[in-house]
Amino acid sequence: MSADLAILFVDDEPNILSGLRRLLRSKAGEWRMSFAYSGAEALRLIDAQPFDAVVTDMRMPQMDGAELLTKVGERRPETIRIILSGQCDQEGAVRSVGPSHIFLSKPCEPGVLIETLDRALHLRRMIYDPAVRTALGGLHALPGIPSSYHAISHAVEEPNCSAHHIADLIGQDPAVAAALLHVANSAYFAPRRLVSSISQAVQYLGMDVVRAVVLSSGVFHDLSLQVQDPSRIKGVWEHSLRTAARTRAALQVLTGRCDPREESEAYTAGLLHDVGALALAAAFPAGDERLAAIEKLDEYDRAPVERATFGVDHGVIGGFLMGIWGLPDSIVEAIAYHHDPVACFRLPSLLPRAVCLAGAVDNFVEAGAPSSEAVALCIAKGVIPFAAADDPAVVAALQAAWKVQIQQ
Ligand SMILES: [Fe+2]
Ligand SMILES: [Fe+2]
Repeated sequence: MSADLAILFVDDEPNILSGLRRLLRSKAGEWRMSFAYSGAEALRLIDAQPFDAVVTDMRMPQMDGAELLTKVGERRPETIRIILSGQCDQEGAVRSVGPSHIFLSKPCEPGVLIETLDRALHLRRMIYDPAVRTALGGLHALPGIPSSYHAISHAVEEPNCSAHHIADLIGQDPAVAAALLHVANSAYFAPRRLVSSISQAVQYLGMDVVRAVVLSSGVFHDLSLQVQDPSRIKGVWEHSLRTAARTRAALQVLTGRCDPREESEAYTAGLLHDVGALALAAAFPAGDERLAAIEKLDEYDRAPVERATFGVDHGVIGGFLMGIWGLPDSIVEAIAYHHDPVACFRLPSLLPRAVCLAGAVDNFVEAGAPSSEAVALCIAKGVIPFAAADDPAVVAALQAAWKVQIQQ
């Protein structure tokens, strides 16, 4: 097997680098590994040749890991960026989660490091087109709605604001919710299990960290992103919010039970299902004619055009981003396949099909369609495979998602 993946490890301690070299010997056939002792040396290597991934220590003299990864993101945005760090303060951790895709803690078992790199590099392969890879790799924030962001940032600065209220507000904003789950799932905060719900993330991180994440503008939120059509962002945002509630209802029917943990995971998956559309809007700025043409189409007509234009649809793009931000696989899978009904209905988990059905229902309801046409519309728009139209659970889930009363 030829070593076709280039990985750069950066640490100012020679012992750490020689330890990594020894521990990762088993991957020498797959990875071409390079080692640098400082940020400056790493940048020289990166300028000379592209790397698939950079793994850096956080605390280094002259240039710390967060600064190095920010520069790597500017020069080679397509690179997977990982912090592998010992102690650092909470402020440093929040600051480094933005420019890094993944944050791992030292000491890190070689198996964990290998698995993490393999997963990230596998996700990266989902995006074939180098230009799309580069455009998405540079993103560390999603476009948000200023009024929603201001409501959240105002609330976190209120001394008596409850965690419950903050979770409620963040649960209405896909961009802030994705940033919070990125931080909550980073190894600095060492979640015992992957965090898939927003209230769990708020409780787990505590108000000080939530405040730091929300207020660290420039790291997680860029309200100045020049998107093609701001009203379209608002449309995706509102649709995502309604789809979150409908996904919860559809999943209850598909599983035949009410499990609070599954329900909050369903809400998160529904809320984030179209983050790929937000990412495309941010990655291809105003003036990109291909995206301008795509944004005129409805969600089901745009997915095949996206595949023809970018090689992947916004579902896969969203799954890729949430995957490298460390969100649980169950959510990543549901996002990635929501425009691939065959894959969706083949997966053992019921969450992907709940998201797929809920998103479709929301589009049909908004278009003024009657619920009696739910199945026919799903078939016509290619939302479900033909065989699923006779499945009573699918029909019941569609009806349950349709009946959800949406509070405006
Ligand atoms: Fe979608
Ligand atoms: Fe959608």
